[in-house]
Amino acid sequence: MQKNIFESVMGGQTVFLDRNIMSPHYTPQKLPFRESQIKEITEIIGNTLQGKRANNLFVYGKVGTGKTVTVKYVMHQLEQFAQQHNASAETTYVNCRTHNSKYKVLLSALRKFYPEENFIGFSAAFVYEKLLEYANKNKKQIVLTLDEVDKVKDVDELIYALSRSNDELEAGSISIIGISNNLLFKERLDPRTTSSLCEKEMVFSPYNAPELKAILEDRVLKAFKKEAISNSAINCAAALAAQETGDARTAVMLLLRAGELADQANKNCVTDDEVKRAKRKVEEEIIFNMIKTLPSQQQLVLYAISSLTVNNKGVRRITGAHEDGVLFSGEIYDEYKRIAKSLEQNIISSRWYRQYISELEIYGLILTTPSGKGIRGSTRLIKLGFEAKKIKDTLEKELFK
Ligand SMILES: Nc1ncnc2c1ncn2[C@@H]1O[C@H](COP(=O)(O)OP(=O)(O)O)[C@@H](O)[C@H]1O
Ligand SMILES: [Mg+2]
Repeated sequence: MQKNIFESVMGGQTVFLDRNIMSPHYTPQKLPFRESQIKEITEIIGNTLQGKRANNLFVYGKVGTGKTVTVKYVMHQLEQFAQQHNASAETTYVNCRTHNSKYKVLLSALRKFYPEENFIGFSAAFVYEKLLEYANKNKKQIVLTLDEVDKVKDVDELIYALSRSNDELEAGSISIIGISNNLLFKERLDPRTTSSLCEKEMVFSPYNAPELKAILEDRVLKAFKKEAISNSAINCAAALAAQETGDARTAVMLLLRAGELADQANKNCVTDDEVKRAKRKVEEEIIFNMIKTLPSQQQLVLYAISSLTVNNKGVRRITGAHEDGVLFSGEIYDEYKRIAKSLEQNIISSRWYRQYISELEIYGLILTTPSGKGIRGSTRLIKLGFEAKKIKDTLEKELFK
């Protein structure tokens, strides 16, 4: 009899026991190296269990330092405790990457409290009142987590409205935990927003190689079949991720993709070789994911850089030497303005332009240096961190869709 066509998809040899455990969205039960952060957050929001408003908290740090998973873990514990002890604390979580405006955030926050109702189409004022009404009527101390809060377009208005809500509430309260991967986000905010959001503040630092190794070892136990992954593969993933960024997501993704490569090759054990081969793919996935969620004006700046680079407009020094892929900050700003104009978009000020350039550098998407000798005047020189053509193509899909 002929083989069923699904045989190759379903029946093939695999190194995985439960592949889902290697998904970046999986929440592990243990969070090693985050004990002190867990304790601190617990203390801050513990107030809500005594019927008081908790201080707002701003959590920031690079991608993959465990911010989301740690805050979610503490929120889950708070809910559980409140239910068991009949306390009036309640939590709601909004991913601002997908809910990127004040209105969308409020709508999404509300869904948890009114699961049966649909408020789409109602005014922002109505949705806001509904949230307050829920807190007020039920005397609830609400903790609202705004993950990737930097993605909210009108973030100043959102934070202002939410903090003002506490003056309007007779009973109950709303406190905010804002999370951001953007180390420079605070500089963008209105000073009033900063002082309100950052009543308490916490930085998550990158993990080092031994820490990443321990995190991976825990995860691998349930995700991979026994002896289907070598110790040196785990070491290799931890070392690569520590070298680059200290990012646990990269480390986890490296092993996931390495496992898939082993499966494709019908191998029964993941080795360093698969991890090394997975590296490029994982790097790309992470970069393109990051590019896709940049604010559109910042995407335009990056688009200007990638398109100048593709068109090979390198810097020429006074000596006549030509440097490939190196651009003047000013020419990029001019190109950006030209593109923004042709798309009938607003044009950001040069101050904002510089802010965006600094952020792109922190994300590792570009490298910058002062111009130094051999260049007239003083300016910054900018170079793309990754292949220009690929970045340009990705942005074209985002910007001109
Ligand atoms: N201390 C830790 N222990 C176990 N897993 C972790 C830890 N920190 C991060 N992770 C894992 O690493 C990945 C990235 O974590 P995440 O919380 O999404 O980072 P961030 O929000 O800072 O970008 C997730 O898959 C998460 O489960
Ligand atoms: Mg996160």
